[in-house]
Amino acid sequence: MALIDSINQLIRNNSDWVERQEATNPDFFKQLASGQQPKFLWIGCSDSRVPPDVVTQTLPGEIFVHRNIANLVVQTDMNLLSVLQYAVEVLKVEHVIVCGHYGCGGVKTAMGNHQYGLIDNWLRQIKDTQNYYWQQLDPLDEEERFRRLVELNVIEQVYNLGKTNIVQNAWAGERRPYLHGWVFDLGTGRIKQQTSMINDEETLKEVCKFEQKVIGH
Ligand code: CO
Repeated sequence: MALIDSINQLIRNNSDWVERQEATNPDFFKQLASGQQPKFLWIGCSDSRVPPDVVTQTLPGEIFVHRNIANLVVQTDMNLLSVLQYAVEVLKVEHVIVCGHYGCGGVKTAMGNHQYGLIDNWLRQIKDTQNYYWQQLDPLDEEERFRRLVELNVIEQVYNLGKTNIVQNAWAGERRPYLHGWVFDLGTGRIKQQTSMINDEETLKEVCKFEQKVIGH
């Protein structure tokens, strides 16, 4: 297929989608244009296989989204912090979900020693997580260790999220948002919850630093 065909296909798909939406609900785009009140902020991996709206069967307007490689919550990332602040303080989302996925290339890369350039710096903190939890990762075989590090990475990012002043202030004022750590299984399509619902400092520490058993383990 020629290069131009693949991009033109997207435009044709868009036209088909518009027609289908209008057939189902003639006011769909009028409603879409009138504003958004999403209840969820999704922080996920950029991986093309984990589209948040598809895997959760939600419509445009329902999920505010931030994605980066390996779904990291980095305290100095102005992009993420701006998305988080707007979602929590202006849109007033009820839930913030960090969703990783098994088979994550970012996590896999962080487990190895091969250099890939700029991305190595971004993935650096996954190596820190690996070191921090080495005692429980060390006995596992390579595949199991990869899967567990994907889970631990998500749990660690939920912890980072709970430590931002944005979330801390919202908790102090409104006991909101609830934080959630999820892992999407590419092999089954199912989401595995890695944390219980978290909306206070005490639970954050219990769940993310394993003072309490986590769901699924
Ligand atoms: Co990934």
